[in-house]
Amino acid sequence: MEKEFDVIVIGAGPGGYVAAIRAAQLGKSVACIEKWKNPAGELKLGGTCLNVGCIPSKALLASSEAFETASRHLRDHGILVSNIKINIAQMHARKDTIVNKMTKGIEFLFRKNKITWLKGHGSFTGKTNTSYRLNIAGEDSSEFVSARDVIIATGSKARHLPFLKVDNQIIVDNEGALTFNSVPKKLAVIGAGVIGLELGSLWRRLGADVTVLEAAPSFLSTADQRVAKEAWKQFAQQGLKIHLGVQIDKVQVIDNTVTILYSYKNVHAQKLEADRLIVSIGRVPNTDNLGLEAIGLAVNNHGFIDVDHCCRTKLPGIYAIGDIVRGPMLAHKAEDEGVLVAEIIDGQKPHIDYNCIPWVIYTEPEIAWVGKTESQLKAEGRQIKSGEFPFMANGRALAMNHSNGFIKMIADVNTDELLGVHIVAANASDLISEAVVAMEFRASSEDIARICHPHPSLSEVMREAALAVDGRALNM
Ligand code: FAD
Ligand code: NAI
Repeated sequence: MEKEFDVIVIGAGPGGYVAAIRAAQLGKSVACIEKWKNPAGELKLGGTCLNVGCIPSKALLASSEAFETASRHLRDHGILVSNIKINIAQMHARKDTIVNKMTKGIEFLFRKNKITWLKGHGSFTGKTNTSYRLNIAGEDSSEFVSARDVIIATGSKARHLPFLKVDNQIIVDNEGALTFNSVPKKLAVIGAGVIGLELGSLWRRLGADVTVLEAAPSFLSTADQRVAKEAWKQFAQQGLKIHLGVQIDKVQVIDNTVTILYSYKNVHAQKLEADRLIVSIGRVPNTDNLGLEAIGLAVNNHGFIDVDHCCRTKLPGIYAIGDIVRGPMLAHKAEDEGVLVAEIIDGQKPHIDYNCIPWVIYTEPEIAWVGKTESQLKAEGRQIKSGEFPFMANGRALAMNHSNGFIKMIADVNTDELLGVHIVAANASDLISEAVVAMEFRASSEDIARICHPHPSLSEVMREAALAVDGRALNM
């Protein structure tokens, strides 16, 4: 007999698996359809984030940071080590263990919350007055299920250049870039966005000579330009070469060498040769063979599913969340939308403030921000004031040998409400949370300036930046 559920979720990435857990917590009978297979052919939950995104990239970034610390920075502490080597196979084994632990953890959470994992490719086959019908095409089985509410959380996939085949050996996207079995001598990267900078930094730390080719004329245009300028300076000092305003003309692979021909500053036929090429030019929503037409739903001109501020599509009972809808392609945004939709299905009235979703780039120094940049606010005609405080004037940062960077805080000139906080520094990913909380509560810079912060800690820079908004930083 055909199985019926209250809620069916398609996709078990951070959007889908969190939606499934929250719906189950609220007493719904829930199934989640997921087809992901790892290179060993095992079915896995967790989506892009756990399998080929956030988690494996951060595991490798941590390994490469440890290697760079050992090779370059331990001597500052008087610790002398020699003959430092990296065992790449061991580094990947560590990463795979972490990924496995996390994906198994979601299997455990599914069992704990009595969520049925339907293994295979899900697609809509039709609808009745009260429910939607879906097919799950498994390895050697096919079944039909139905539910009154369906949450589409099918995520995204790497965007490729139309003329360039990604083989994930020599020319790779994020998947291949996380599995190189040796350190490339010369690594080319197309796209100086989040993946280009994180994975470019990762392989540079391990010894690759990395050149990043970026089409845009300015660097990190979504970040505050003061932060982008500081990051540019730091990356250049580290040896990461970034060319802006580049147009890729042709890429060819001969005898395991990639040759990239590109135009730069109106000079054509510039040539870059490398052992490997990472293509990281953004991601596109994934709605492949989802059968949307069977229920009368279509994607928009950019491939996204249109939704309102509550992730509702135009069809009652059909919701879409995460990378397949508008907004930043971030795991925590997908998770929040998963909770939001499950609670809406339950009849609650939750809310997401998209202005308070933090961004983090896990380079060294890390870059993190929440709210708006100075140029966005000026373009909106807002009257603003801002303060900055450098980490080199913070005792803990000096003690940790991480004194690069600063925090910049922007507030409304009249009300003092916080409008944006921008960090370029070690541990920015953790430091930004204080600013997120403050902005969610619509705090003023004065609120942060008056709160006691532990000493010595990097968080004191947040307080000093808040004081600097009013021109009264204490330690500068
Ligand atoms: P996904 O995680 O893409 O999951 C979608 C799932 O749906 C997949 O498992 C897929 O197999 C499944 N699926 C699709 N279609 C079907 C179907 N028809 N039937 C059954 N199953 C289907 N974000 C951060 O916030 N922080 C980071 O540090 C970060 N690092 C990243 C690093 C890299 C290298 C990459 C590529 C991304 C990173 N991201 C990061 C982005 C983050 O991974 C995504 O924003 C997030 O995974 C989106 O979640 P999602 O649930 O929408 O989709
Ligand atoms: P991105 O959008 O961050 O950057 C893509 C870059 O490629 C842009 O700078 C763009 O101008 C450039 N570009 C586009 N076409 C080009 C071309 N033809 N030639 C040269 N440059 C070109 O996309 P990216 O880095 O691929 O990452 C995808 C998404 O994954 C991110 O936007 C982010 O949402 C998510 N992600 C998040 C992370 C985090 O939160 N720390 C880490 C990694 C990915």
